[in-house]
Amino acid sequence: MERQIWLHRAQRGLQKASERKGRPLTAACITFGCQMNARDSEKLRGMLAEIGFTITDTEEADLVLYNTCTVRENANTKIYGRLGYLHSMKKKDPDKIIALCGCMMQEPGVIEAIRRNYPYVNMVFGTHNLYRLPELVACVLESPQEQFIAILKDTDEIVEDLPKIRKYHFKSGVNIMFGCNNFCSYCIVPYVRGREKSRSPEDILNEIRTLAQDGVKEIMLLGQNVNSYGKTLQEPVTFAELLDRAAEVDGIDRIRFMTSHPKDLSKELIRVMARNPKICRHLHLPLQSGSTRILEKMNRRYTKERYLELVSEIRSAIPDISLTTDIIVGFPGETEEDFRETLDVVSRVRYDSAFTFLYSRRTGTPAASMSDQIDENTMHDRFDRLLTLVQTIGREQTARFTGQVMPVLVESVNTQQKDLVTGRLGNNTVVHFPGSKSLIGEIVPVRLDECRGFYYLGTQARSE
Ligand code: SAH
Ligand code: SF4
Ligand code: F3S
Repeated sequence: MERQIWLHRAQRGLQKASERKGRPLTAACITFGCQMNARDSEKLRGMLAEIGFTITDTEEADLVLYNTCTVRENANTKIYGRLGYLHSMKKKDPDKIIALCGCMMQEPGVIEAIRRNYPYVNMVFGTHNLYRLPELVACVLESPQEQFIAILKDTDEIVEDLPKIRKYHFKSGVNIMFGCNNFCSYCIVPYVRGREKSRSPEDILNEIRTLAQDGVKEIMLLGQNVNSYGKTLQEPVTFAELLDRAAEVDGIDRIRFMTSHPKDLSKELIRVMARNPKICRHLHLPLQSGSTRILEKMNRRYTKERYLELVSEIRSAIPDISLTTDIIVGFPGETEEDFRETLDVVSRVRYDSAFTFLYSRRTGTPAASMSDQIDENTMHDRFDRLLTLVQTIGREQTARFTGQVMPVLVESVNTQQKDLVTGRLGNNTVVHFPGSKSLIGEIVPVRLDECRGFYYLGTQARSE
């Protein structure tokens, strides 16, 4: 109810502001970080549109909202840099509204810095209270000289039914859980996203049904550790059960999910994936390190051997699956020997692709106060060696479907060559092939003629 009152107040405030300007006002929400943030941004844009803003995606907009990430230090540095740029624009247009939200705002040190050094930021909120956006907009429109900050440390509440503006009409993320309880020793996410909370299966399935009615063909179930979905619900449900039920929804042809923690990946999940062709033949299974000694210091709760065993169970049940991963190089105390264990796992598993990261020291995490931090040169040297191996294997793995005909969900017209369209295979590999705009959102059979590193060039094949 209170949300409605604030919404009306924001709508009235905006109407007056646009009468003064003599034109409709625009808003842009710019996303940094992961798929969770991207999905939150769709809700933020939905709320901004409901207030009455015309949604754009440029920083020229009358209101610019940065939805921030803080997983690595460089994510924060980037935001401070971009704030400087927004400030120079605001000097020319003092009515410009600058707003910040997302993971970085959940760090107390960041809020202090914004209060002290960035007085031109109009409003700040966090990851637990997105739904307060209309209230903060109303306050800023009424008192543009003040700075409004609203941060909650954590919450048990899941606010359903926020409006959303989806980026694609044919695919969508669906949150199944929020937060994380794993406390990997290097990671800041549990501190900024709070404790793990699962949405009820009914709410999730209703959302999927509505999306299917809207023409969505592909969904991605989102959570920091989807394999522990449902454990804390009053009537516990497993992630595998949820997947099975999601696959029953008519109109949904492809289901993806992110991210799977190896420690919680069940045999039941492997069985459900194997027998259900709607579930994409792709599993993102973050390794982080191949050394059991480092994995223990990371608090990952699996060993090198267990990870490899899991991979072989998955491969024997689903032989054509593509595996991808995340790896951190230079965790405190990592020796050359530990690093070679990581290279060894990469050579054995043969990932289709891998995100590789330099370890970043995040204040407040246990790893930040470990004594044996690795020097920059060693870190960069290992990073380069890992990247070379990951890319060599990735090319070979990606190319293994050359000559086959496979379904491609077409996503866009190619940006460089207008007579090509671009889409993705079920395993997430990008494919370009001759075609027109009318194919966007369709799943079409494509012959994979030639693999160029990490993508294919193909030609449309006839449907049976
Ligand atoms: N919940 C997901 C990952 C979320 S963060 C999972 O557990 O897999 C995405 C990736 O960022 C992580 O997998 C990790 O590889 C990387 N990452 C997290 N904290 C980091 C840090 N402090 N330094 C470098 N990389 C980090
Ligand atoms: Fe971070 Fe670990 Fe949670 Fe992933 S599982 S978000 S890496 S603490
Ligand atoms: Fe970044 Fe937050 Fe995602 S810290 S990686 S945007 S959960």
